[in-house]
Amino acid sequence: MKHIISCEQFDRSYLDHLFSIADDMMEHPEQYENSLSGKVIATMFFEPSTRTRLSFEAAILRLGAKNISTENAMEASSATKGESLEDTIRVISGYTDGIVIRHFDKRAAQKAAQVSDVPIFNAGSGSGSHPTQSLLDLYTMHKCGKKFDHITVAVVGDLLFGRTVHSLIKLLAVYDHVIIYGLSSPNFALPKEYIDYLRIHGATYISCNGFEELPENIDVIYNTRTQLERFTESDLAPREFVVNKKVLNRFSEQTILLHPLPRNAEIATDVDDDPRALYFKQAHNGMWVRMALLYDTILNG
Ligand code: NCD
Repeated sequence: MKHIISCEQFDRSYLDHLFSIADDMMEHPEQYENSLSGKVIATMFFEPSTRTRLSFEAAILRLGAKNISTENAMEASSATKGESLEDTIRVISGYTDGIVIRHFDKRAAQKAAQVSDVPIFNAGSGSGSHPTQSLLDLYTMHKCGKKFDHITVAVVGDLLFGRTVHSLIKLLAVYDHVIIYGLSSPNFALPKEYIDYLRIHGATYISCNGFEELPENIDVIYNTRTQLERFTESDLAPREFVVNKKVLNRFSEQTILLHPLPRNAEIATDVDDDPRALYFKQAHNGMWVRMALLYDTILNG
């Protein structure tokens, strides 16, 4: 049985396979509408979510499966009575054919997988990882014709606590000659473990201080919000790297602007209509990628 825990588990042939299923689902959704009929899939969210939970739940329904859900699992599940995550998962895995879980503990998905009899889908584990977000990020690059070998990507914003950045880095490292530029306040810099991971996998990491240091024909700018809920010290207040019209116009027609959303001030609304601003498209792609992932994992294990 396969669990979806971390981007480290993916290779390029799996990614090709998954994206071809997502492409086919987008083109022929009717052919998949009963493909998981009779299955029950749980979505358990111990942290807030809009896109991830609702796109997973829409994906479940569009494949003909049924969904049981705890939207606010920290208050509304037996976690509030002191039950361990492992015990909760042992129980829910007896009711379902798959469990989608978001949790504040970095190791939650791994812990869940160790005791689950059904596939676990990591929908975000603390500041650690968010692999299904990275799959849809990469799928969005694929949909606009980007090739991943030699790709150049700037990750911007909160590189310290941003789990979407941490996972995306690991996913991009699957490919050859990848160059990642990091743009953050010094106290929100990318942790060394990710820089080392890139180096070990043959990718290049270049730390920058401003948009003007990025090549104007960079493939992707991936901006992120400050993860305010993950720290308390007010002296950590980071500098924002705002992409507005003026900033975006420094870059070529081929550069695309992505963001996992929700955004705060780091992407000005004056770029929303720019054809290179793809964050809403990216969020929509999430449903198709999650459909492909559920379908492939639950049916083919
Ligand atoms: C991200 C998350 O939860 O990590 N959101 C999402 O899943 N689309 C990014 C964020 O919250 O900043």
